[in-house]
Amino acid sequence: MAETLLQVRDLNAWYGAAHVLQGISLDVGKAEIVALVGRNGAGKTTTVRTIMGLIAKRSGTVLFDGIDLMTRQPYERFALGLGYVPEERRIVPGLTVRENLTLGLLAAHRGAAWEADAIDAIVTRFPRLGERLNQEAVTMSGGEQQMLAIARAMLSQPKMILLDEPSEGIMPALVDEMAELFIELKRGGMSLLLIEQNVELALEISDRAYNLDQGRLVHEGTSAELLADEAIRERYCGLITEHHDGA
Ligand SMILES: Nc1ncnc2c1ncn2[C@@H]1O[C@H](COP(=O)(O)OP(=O)(O)OP(=O)(O)O)[C@@H](O)[C@H]1O
Ligand SMILES: [Mg+2]
Repeated sequence: MAETLLQVRDLNAWYGAAHVLQGISLDVGKAEIVALVGRNGAGKTTTVRTIMGLIAKRSGTVLFDGIDLMTRQPYERFALGLGYVPEERRIVPGLTVRENLTLGLLAAHRGAAWEADAIDAIVTRFPRLGERLNQEAVTMSGGEQQMLAIARAMLSQPKMILLDEPSEGIMPALVDEMAELFIELKRGGMSLLLIEQNVELALEISDRAYNLDQGRLVHEGTSAELLADEAIRERYCGLITEHHDGA
């Protein structure tokens, strides 16, 4: 594996009395894409929310670029270069696309000219957003909002982005485009922790994968070997049919 960027050790999290994460340890290297898969309710979202400092009751160690994150506020984690695309997108109602993008730059404090350049650069990459900069963001389609959430996370040029089901609700052609984008980001040196229901896609673009079940890691390996091993491939990709009622 590449030099470690994110090191998670013995992570535990609770919702009230429910012990939802039970000792998760994982690593993400520099310029590495790591997939986190598992059935509904396995604890994937809770894992990234805990890494971002959004779960009150937790224990364990999270080192990011050698810095202990557990004592830091969520905004500090963001400023240290840890981006996050949450499951529920968090597009701010009442704000235009441009204003939502600008929110992604607030913690960077680099001035209006720099912000304008960064937004120009991002709309070159996401032309659909460029056409809608002055539209109220929540009036865009689900797929467009998902693109906006990803664009916003990329704007501050983080070292790593945690992506919680970025392809959810997006048509296949756009999903392929998104996969290309992730590979491009990795080539540019960025690290990604990718939660995906589309396990086959996740394994195709990731370097390594972790399988989470009932708050524990039950399997891990390189994505190439998981895809190559028929039995494991079934076990991982079988998650897809379980999610979608065999449709
Ligand atoms: N705010 C909460 N309060 C109480 N329990 C919660 C809360 N959020 C999640 N849980 C529970 O914690 C467990 C893990 O949930 P989590 O959202 O992390 O799963 P997930 O792997 O992301 O699932 P999905 O694939 O459906 O998104 C589930 O049993 C869920 O019901
Ligand atoms: Mg989830």
